[in-house]
Amino acid sequence: MEFKEVIGRRRSIRFYQPWRPVEREKIQIILEAARLCSRAVNADFAKAIVLYRDQLSQEDLDALKTPTTNVQLDTAPVCIVWFADVSAVPRMVQARAPTLKQLVDVGALPPTHGWSHAYVDNVIVPQVLSPIAQDQGTLAFLTAAEASLAICHAVLAAVDEGLGTQLTALNAEAVKRITNHPAEWIPLWGQLVGYPAESWDGGGQRPREPFEQDFFEMRYGNPFTRDPQVVEKLKEAKMIQDPAPHPWRNEEIRYLAQMFGLPL
Ligand SMILES: Cc1cc2nc3c(=O)[nH]c(=O)nc-3n(C[C@H](O)[C@H](O)[C@H](O)COP(=O)(O)O)c2cc1C
Repeated sequence: MEFKEVIGRRRSIRFYQPWRPVEREKIQIILEAARLCSRAVNADFAKAIVLYRDQLSQEDLDALKTPTTNVQLDTAPVCIVWFADVSAVPRMVQARAPTLKQLVDVGALPPTHGWSHAYVDNVIVPQVLSPIAQDQGTLAFLTAAEASLAICHAVLAAVDEGLGTQLTALNAEAVKRITNHPAEWIPLWGQLVGYPAESWDGGGQRPREPFEQDFFEMRYGNPFTRDPQVVEKLKEAKMIQDPAPHPWRNEEIRYLAQMFGLPL
């Protein structure tokens, strides 16, 4: 699928075909995509544990639910639990940033920009990494933001593989009990993965605030004005798609409710 269409087709899917497993290869592809995301100081911030619904007891499945995560967890065959590893930067400080030095060695961080092993040791570790490692607030914020970049790759990779996917909240205590993850891993989100039981486009592209409300040029208050010709081009490339709701969406939900025995 073309990149723009992958972005355009992504929806949060909330009904999955519980009977259709996800190929292990596709799950690996999702994880591979996450691994290749850009990451500050080339550290490993994102961690994941893949849960298979059929291998969870009903009790565990129910324990993972939250006020915003219920039916979708019952139907999705796979839930990738994403974590932010807050030990990533402190480990870099302790080991004197080996992954940064690797970047120097492979020419990604070139001497033209001031990079060398000595620069990493004498400038980056004490002036950049140590202050972050010592400030718990900054550390948590930065680590979660970094992990989110990986998750974004994972979500788009799932769409590219023809799967439905959704990020969703999970009960953190249940995640800890079921996965036994290390204490330094903060659970962020579950990424549900499966074949959609609802139409792949979830009834249309979801509403967003006006473009000019979010994006500016040079200073706040000076909106980046949308060019209608670019919008048309993106419609042709299937990045901008028909807005929700499709006229048949309520009927679709009614049929889905019947199929899964859900209330309306
Ligand atoms: C980090 C994150 C957490 C989310 N958590 C939930 C959730 O707990 N339950 C839910 O139904 N949707 C959840 N969503 C989905 C959003 O509601 C959804 O992305 C938003 O409504 C826009 O719709 P779209 O993703 O189909 O474009 C979450 C999305 C993100 C990015």
